[in-house]
Amino acid sequence: MSQFKITVLPGDGIGVEVTREAVGCLETVAKTFGHEFTFESHLMGGAALDAKGVPLPDETLAACLASDGVLLGAVGGPQYDNNPPKLKPETGLLALRAGLGVFANLRPAFLHEPLIDASPLKAEVVRGTDMLIVRELMGGAYFGQPREVTEDRGLNSMVYTAPEVERIARVAFEAARLRRKKLHSIDKANVLEVSQLWRKVVNRVAQDYPDVQLEHGYVDSCAMALVTRPTAYDVIVTENLFGDILSDEAAVLTGSLGMLPSASIGGKVGLYEPVHGSAPDIAGKGIANPLGAIASAALLLRYTCKLEEEAKTLENAISEILTEGYGTPDLKSQPKQVSTFEIGEAIRSKIVKAKAA
Ligand SMILES: NC(=O)c1ccc[n+]([C@@H]2O[C@H](COP(=O)([O-])OP(=O)(O)OC[C@H]3O[C@@H](n4cnc5c(N)ncnc54)[C@H](O)[C@@H]3O)[C@@H](O)[C@H]2O)c1
Repeated sequence: MSQFKITVLPGDGIGVEVTREAVGCLETVAKTFGHEFTFESHLMGGAALDAKGVPLPDETLAACLASDGVLLGAVGGPQYDNNPPKLKPETGLLALRAGLGVFANLRPAFLHEPLIDASPLKAEVVRGTDMLIVRELMGGAYFGQPREVTEDRGLNSMVYTAPEVERIARVAFEAARLRRKKLHSIDKANVLEVSQLWRKVVNRVAQDYPDVQLEHGYVDSCAMALVTRPTAYDVIVTENLFGDILSDEAAVLTGSLGMLPSASIGGKVGLYEPVHGSAPDIAGKGIANPLGAIASAALLLRYTCKLEEEAKTLENAISEILTEGYGTPDLKSQPKQVSTFEIGEAIRSKIVKAKAA
């Protein structure tokens, strides 16, 4: 039996609804596989602003740091749009990532066969898409100094040190080991010095992973290949800015925003959250797609709890209910239109059946 303490940050809008289903699925996994998970909920984002006047209260961060993993819903809402930056829900999210020290963002892009028509690409191009983008999260142009903007000049600095590249490369090689053992490192080494260092360090780390096949590619050609032959990729590792763009490009190949999970790891505690926001337009209606949140819970099982069989069981349950035609209204082509809760229930019954089989 394994024991894990999980902090739950439902946040705002549909964050609350989808997180409830993800926690329910984790409870079913624990019961079915004989583990003990304890859950503690805390305020975050707009909910924290309303109650405490700050988007990330100290006690929320302290609780996250004292736990094994954090499951987050989503934050934000139109009522906070005119707040000063320090009092925006999204500022709390950035502070949380920094506080946890997570430097590796993992975004799987997996196309479920029943959702093939929801992809903007032709079925014959996109069928079989199953990749993981590992994006460096704390370096590069988003954080590099110097940076400034004046009336007639803007400046940012894309900076990486060898240790920063090494630690993200190790996360990517380890992730590749859990998959098809194929890693593409994406850079712009034909133009950028920072990419030349990136490539050198990745090659050095590769020596510790002889079982993983490494290829280097340029970001411009990768952007093209993602929409012309997405199945060529298994794991992609890249720096912050390139990863921001490529992970959104890969995500859109797979259908609804509501399907996409993410994991931010490498720091003190892993943070798991769906890619979508708080969706104020559908909040409170019970129709939000919880599958991105539930798939994020599967990533928590994989990367924090190291429970691969349990993670796979949860991911297979998602595939099975989609194959059976279940879906929320964002998955228009699914014949069995159901609620957020009913999707959660369908997944939970699949978990129990899979273990009993
Ligand atoms: N990580 C986060 O917490 C995060 C991410 C993005 C946006 N936001 C915040 O969320 C708020 C709304 O932002 P937005 O509207 O640009 O993006 P959004 O992701 O909330 O919604 C975009 C569209 O996708 C739909 N959608 C999103 N998730 C869905 C789901 N699970 N099921 C069904 N449909 C879903 C919404 O209904 C909406 O039409 C803003 O305040 C924004 O800042 C937060």
